[in-house]
Amino acid sequence: MKLLITGSNGLLGQKIVDLCLAKHLEFLATSSGANRNSKCPDQAYEALDITDEQNIQTVLKGYAPTHVIHTAAMTNVDQCELHPEACDLVNRQAVLMLAKCCQRLGIHFQLLSTDFVFDGLAGPYAESDQPNPLSVYARSKVEGENIVQQLDGLSYSIVRTIIVYGKGEQLSRSNLILWAKEALEKGDPLQIVDDQFRAPTWADDLAWACVRICELNEQGIFHIAGPQTLSIYQIVERIAAFYGLPMQQVSKLSSSTLQQPAKRPPHTGFILDKARAVLGYEPHTLEQTLALL
Ligand SMILES: NC(=O)c1ccc[n+]([C@@H]2O[C@H](COP(=O)([O-])OP(=O)(O)OC[C@H]3O[C@@H](n4cnc5c(N)ncnc54)[C@H](OP(=O)(O)O)[C@@H]3O)[C@@H](O)[C@H]2O)c1
Repeated sequence: MKLLITGSNGLLGQKIVDLCLAKHLEFLATSSGANRNSKCPDQAYEALDITDEQNIQTVLKGYAPTHVIHTAAMTNVDQCELHPEACDLVNRQAVLMLAKCCQRLGIHFQLLSTDFVFDGLAGPYAESDQPNPLSVYARSKVEGENIVQQLDGLSYSIVRTIIVYGKGEQLSRSNLILWAKEALEKGDPLQIVDDQFRAPTWADDLAWACVRICELNEQGIFHIAGPQTLSIYQIVERIAAFYGLPMQQVSKLSSSTLQQPAKRPPHTGFILDKARAVLGYEPHTLEQTLALL
């Protein structure tokens, strides 16, 4: 197995690089611009802008991987809503270019997707449930999924996940758990929604599942998330309880009062039966990972 990772400067990309190094797997890490992960050796890194078709072809032909794990994306949901053309370029057109190149070269293509493909009215969701996206970001991810499912003869997997958290180096954005921990430590006043339910996912667990799917040469959709579906408020409560931090400055908020550009699904969470049975996936609980953070 020879892995090519896109978005290796991102949180998941960095965790996949860590895992490849720990398991002595052959890999090429790619992201736009310079390598920002000091653990990733420079000889295992190449700049790759996934919106540049020529760049895709040169790098994929040159390295000739057996599997591409495609983590790179425009991941800020509100930015996608405000800049739909940029979102379409990175989350749909780039997937089309990458997946077609993989199809031609006989490479397995793994696409990272999201719980936001669902409308959140009937969570937790199984892989066979019908998507109904509510935002520009979510629609771009569904379109990406449709592309890989419809390309003739393409070997593919789709890994949907939910609120990914963990520590990385020089990330371009934070994540809910780290942000909440820091804000609680500072005693900042916080208003937290209590009507959106999610299953936060430890980035190392997700990286393990992505690589495991490649090792087993599995095909199709996999739901990979944490084992507990909680409201965002409950998540913050648990972080405070774990670290012994006060909750006095934290108040509850309804999503309807938030002026966010992109609509969010109220209740997601995943049924993990397939991942457990096929991959042997056993995710950490929030508390287990807070001890590791
Ligand atoms: N994080 C979550 O909560 C979450 C939830 C559900 C699904 N997902 C999906 O899981 C995947 C990984 O998420 P993540 O948290 O690791 O995301 P992330 O930390 O935002 O990383 C995404 C990476 O993609 C890179 N990228 C953006 N545009 C690019 C381009 N044109 N060419 C090459 N690289 C480009 C970014 O580069 P820069 O760092 O230079 O900007 C960044 O390093 C994404 O597909 C996301 O949609 C994430």
